[in-house]
Amino acid sequence: MENNNSRRNFLKKSAAITIGALATNAILNKTQAAVNLVENEILPVDGGKYTLPALPYAYDALEPHIDKLTMEIHHSKHHQAYVTNLNKALETIDGNVLGSPQTLENIFSKIDKLPVALRNNGGGHYNHSLFWAMMKPNGGGEPKGKLADAIKSTFTSFDEFKKQFADASMKRFGSGWAWLVLKDGKLKIGSTANQDNPLMNLDSVEIKGTPILTLDVWEHAYYLKNQNRRADYIASFWNVVNWETAENLFATAK
Ligand SMILES: [Fe+2]
Repeated sequence: MENNNSRRNFLKKSAAITIGALATNAILNKTQAAVNLVENEILPVDGGKYTLPALPYAYDALEPHIDKLTMEIHHSKHHQAYVTNLNKALETIDGNVLGSPQTLENIFSKIDKLPVALRNNGGGHYNHSLFWAMMKPNGGGEPKGKLADAIKSTFTSFDEFKKQFADASMKRFGSGWAWLVLKDGKLKIGSTANQDNPLMNLDSVEIKGTPILTLDVWEHAYYLKNQNRRADYIASFWNVVNWETAENLFATAK
């Protein structure tokens, strides 16, 4: 029994050290935080656990486009559940299986060999952390600089890009995410199911690459305000999108 406990504690400790990784409460303190996600920044977290990052704005800050109650439940209930269940899933895994140093990005790169709980909850935590930084009060407008140039050269115009991104958001059946990614130096639009993302090494993930922009199209992201009208929610997103985050992710994308 003692040996089992010692082994369990060792595994938990090594998992904490190797997995601990992202200081999730720092993820969203500033726009740069979204870049840190992609740069595999490793920071200590409390007890090696992932924690729910604070929103970089108030729950009602995106009103009237995204309502306060939706933001509050989405962040404090849905995202918190992914964090809680991610930590539970990690407790059951030998840290050596994951290697070191360990980040969610590295976990995703070998997700085809890991328990589905890591896929769902690791994806849920990563995607939502990114998503909060994709929005801001008084957002919207158009991207600037190199991202603007790349969008125009790839999709012919910003309006055509918006049309294709909205189309991908609408066509995702059931729950999932729409993405703009950089893959082999090219911008691409697509979507993933459930909490999958373009960093996951899975055949079923149709779009691969470095995330530049993402939109949560689960009903929990819009049902209270928009009910079944996903198109209205997508239109609202364009009023709060934080292009600075996308520009920073594009600037550091490999
Ligand atoms: Fe969500």
